[in-house]
Amino acid sequence: MGEKRLKMALIGCGRIGSSKHVEAIVKNSDVIEAVAVCDIVKERAEKCARSIEEKAGYLPKVYERYEEIINNEDVDFVAIATESGYHYEISMKFLKKDINVLVEKPMALSTKHIDEMIQTAKDNNVKLGVCFQNRFNPPIVELRKKVESGAFGNINYGVANIRWNRDKNYYEQASWRGTWHLDGGSLMNQCTHNIDLLQWMLGGEIEEVYGVIRNFQHPYIEAEDFGGAIVKFKDGKVGIIEGTSTIYPRNLEETLSIFGEQGTVVIGGLAVNKIQVWKFPDEDSHPFMELPDPDTVYGFGHVPLYRDFYEAIIYDRQPKIPGEEGRKAVEIVLAIYKSALENKPVKFPFEFDSTQMKNWSGHYVVRG
Ligand SMILES: NC(=O)c1ccc[n+]([C@@H]2O[C@H](COP(=O)([O-])OP(=O)(O)OC[C@H]3O[C@@H](n4cnc5c(N)ncnc54)[C@H](O)[C@@H]3O)[C@@H](O)[C@H]2O)c1
Repeated sequence: MGEKRLKMALIGCGRIGSSKHVEAIVKNSDVIEAVAVCDIVKERAEKCARSIEEKAGYLPKVYERYEEIINNEDVDFVAIATESGYHYEISMKFLKKDINVLVEKPMALSTKHIDEMIQTAKDNNVKLGVCFQNRFNPPIVELRKKVESGAFGNINYGVANIRWNRDKNYYEQASWRGTWHLDGGSLMNQCTHNIDLLQWMLGGEIEEVYGVIRNFQHPYIEAEDFGGAIVKFKDGKVGIIEGTSTIYPRNLEETLSIFGEQGTVVIGGLAVNKIQVWKFPDEDSHPFMELPDPDTVYGFGHVPLYRDFYEAIIYDRQPKIPGEEGRKAVEIVLAIYKSALENKPVKFPFEFDSTQMKNWSGHYVVRG
């Protein structure tokens, strides 16, 4: 490793760009150099550049318009951490110029856009990776090994619980949050990680999804703050999703439970980072039962995710989470939205776009 240091640019220096992406850039300094950072709010890009200088010892160039990076810089890849509703447009610009793209989750908000992104990456022979960094959480890696080894026997069903809190202040910090065209609600924003893990462990094709969404207590956002869904897989497995940003008074848990004939695993903690139950015929516990909660719910996964993306480019292989994988959780959330809108199960495959939710009105005040 380390044959070549790849040049990259970070586009979007907000909450996640300036924290986890900067950390991933800095901690992969032996193989990655951020030659440019970009934000339409120049001060944010400048702050990111200074942060990289402080931690990695070099100062990336600052851009306000990402189009200028295409013209002025010779980058191997870009990482896109702007508002979700802009991922498609920005990704397409770079993919079409044969530049590899690592895009934040959700990769886009429409099945059509996602398919176009995947196809364009293929046509131009470049990598498209998606930031579902929780797949790199050590307990999740352990669970995945058990799934792949067949240790569960038949897996029957799995449950994803996301019981978090987002208050008015969180939504006031950035007006795009909770809008249908740039974000979606708690399912699309906060819950896609665990929905991705659930579908990854259960695997296989989906037959249909039935979903209910509500906006219980965030009247100032357009989208949902609660979602419940049943995901029926073609092979009979069932996924159950319960996700919300309404939990009083703060984040409670993000938990993934997988139940099979000969195995039960529950991984919880604040952000699927702690094994709570680990039962197989010859195993009753796991060393990762004692892991501490990470500093934020974002965990530490961006560092290995960047490493994997680097290796994918260098060794010309698919990243561990390519567009095809990044698509799956978004597809489930879009199916839940469509199901809630039409009040009936949604059969796969289907096409949908979060902006089709703009006339949805599920703002509830639950009484007695
Ligand atoms: N992987 C994770 O755990 C995780 C965590 C948080 C957010 N996210 C995702 O990351 C994305 C950003 O979320 P955030 O909370 O950091 O948002 P944010 O609003 O804090 O940051 C977005 C930034 O992008 C900038 N921007 C917008 N348009 C731009 C453009 N054309 N060129 C350059 N910069 C532009 C904005 O000015 C802003 O600074 C979202 O898609 C979100 O879903 C992922």
